[in-house]
Amino acid sequence: MTAAEPLSNPDPASERRVYDHRAADYRVGVTNTTLLRALHDPGDPPCRPLPTPVDDLLLALAAPPRLAAHLRVVHDVAHQLVMWTEQHHPELPFDREAVLFGAATHDIGKVVHAAELSGPGSAHEEAGRELLLAHGVRPELARFAGTHAAWTDPGIQVEDLLVSTADKVWKNKRVPELENLLVARLSAASGQPAWEVFLALDEALERIGDGATHRLAFQSAYPVHG
Ligand SMILES: [Fe+2]
Repeated sequence: MTAAEPLSNPDPASERRVYDHRAADYRVGVTNTTLLRALHDPGDPPCRPLPTPVDDLLLALAAPPRLAAHLRVVHDVAHQLVMWTEQHHPELPFDREAVLFGAATHDIGKVVHAAELSGPGSAHEEAGRELLLAHGVRPELARFAGTHAAWTDPGIQVEDLLVSTADKVWKNKRVPELENLLVARLSAASGQPAWEVFLALDEALERIGDGATHRLAFQSAYPVHG
């Protein structure tokens, strides 16, 4: 190199590309491309992206890619359940955004208890609620991290039941006790007999459950440790 040669890249366009890439990584505080793929891979069939605040939080926490993929599939299923509920039970008042946020964050405590991504355990539930509260999430939205496996607890709302159901049916797991609780809420709101509500819900859950193989493949494509 002579003294006349520039030290920086003389191609402004190329220089800008390098800069933008680094700026993006800096903004989200990660260099974990596997996590970025888990969050932003469109999926086949398509899997909806997480709400932007959740996306940003998972990046800031450097969440395990497997967790990000799991939250995406459960959030996608929750979206389908919400649409079904709105269509078939328009008389039922519920907070659709809370359900979607709850599904998108329900297992976030596994950032702290990563062993529970591949093994049993419930320590992530309260840890998740505390983690969300510590990051400024309102208690009524942070609650799902603590309630998604507690559908018989007093004070459980229909939003909690929808998140819990999404967290089962994504892998085509059916839990009669949980579904009966959801049916009871829908029946009470509509005045329809429970058996009629159940037949329609059962059909919807079967249809959603049919996509389980693709969702399991999507999730397991991402490692527990990024
Ligand atoms: Fe889950």
